Amino acid sequence: MPWWFFRRRSRPAASQTAPAAASGWQLGEVALPRLHGSRRYLQEQPYLLPKDLGEVNRLDFQHYILRAVLRGNYLAPIQQPRRILDVGCGTGQWAFELAHQFPQAQVVGLDLEQVKAATSPPPNYRFVQGDILQGLPFDDNSFDFVHQRLLVLAIPQAAWPDAVQELVRVTSPGGWVELVEASIAPKDLTPSGPVTQRLFGLGGELAALRGIDSEGVVARSLDYYLSETGLVNIERCQIEVPVGEWGGRLGSLMALNFREGAKALSAPIAHRFAITEQEVATAIEEMLQEFNRYHTQYSYIVAYGQKAC
Ligand SMILES: C[S@@+](CC[C@H](N)C(=O)[O-])C[C@H]1O[C@@H](n2cnc3c(N)ncnc32)[C@H](O)[C@@H]1O
Repeated sequence: MPWWFFRRRSRPAASQTAPAAASGWQLGEVALPRLHGSRRYLQEQPYLLPKDLGEVNRLDFQHYILRAVLRGNYLAPIQQPRRILDVGCGTGQWAFELAHQFPQAQVVGLDLEQVKAATSPPPNYRFVQGDILQGLPFDDNSFDFVHQRLLVLAIPQAAWPDAVQELVRVTSPGGWVELVEASIAPKDLTPSGPVTQRLFGLGGELAALRGIDSEGVVARSLDYYLSETGLVNIERCQIEVPVGEWGGRLGSLMALNFREGAKALSAPIAHRFAITEQEVATAIEEMLQEFNRYHTQYSYIVAYGQKAC
């Protein structure tokens, strides 16, 4: 075992056992250098993952995994939405597919930055630059379906209630809001080995420095956030997926996704905890072996609700 493995884990600053109140948020430690080796990170945002081609590829790959896991692109019982919004749209792949599925609808993807500018999006798709933490640049009641997926590493825990309120504000009466998230808490990868626990623990410490939830509170509170905004017909669904070759094709894809996700954080982890990137890379390979030894599983949480008419 490497020496850093045994260092005591300090308690994350933002850890709580109940959802945070709808208060403001603070960027604890702003600072990932914009470029870390070959990876590019945003400087003025809490968002922890890189914004570069490697991450674009991982997000597309992850999109196809999630579509298989959910057996589709959403769970809410939408009928024929006319205006659809995807907040934190990433590569835009989810929104592109919705635009194809509902050719009569106008589909908007919102993100801090546009990627895939070179590909030709469907004609009923439009990208809008925006920041959910600053409020959405849309009028009240603008969309029939508002979707937000995997922003747990982007929205500080204390900002979640306001962010969800903002999604609901732009949803029209009778429209649906759907949230899809996962936890980065070591205890939510179960069963899992010591190196896996340690790597996720370091990721969690890094996240907590930015006020990001590292204990799975956000993922467990999605339906609570929706209910606090007054939405009705709320449903919550937890989907367990295998991680590692032991879990067949899906498990193998999940392991690859975890490997690339861990690599995406390896430069900031090495920088913050004064270890080498090679040591992190070795730990990532050990984690992959542990997935098979322990038969690790992971969960995605989906919650959706309807704005009352
Ligand atoms: C993990 S990716 C998920 C992308 C996409 N939702 C998906 O499921 O493939 C998170 C995305 O949220 C975007 N993001 C981060 N902070 C944001 C913010 N404050 N407002 C809007 N988008 C943000 C990032 O740029 C990134 O594209």
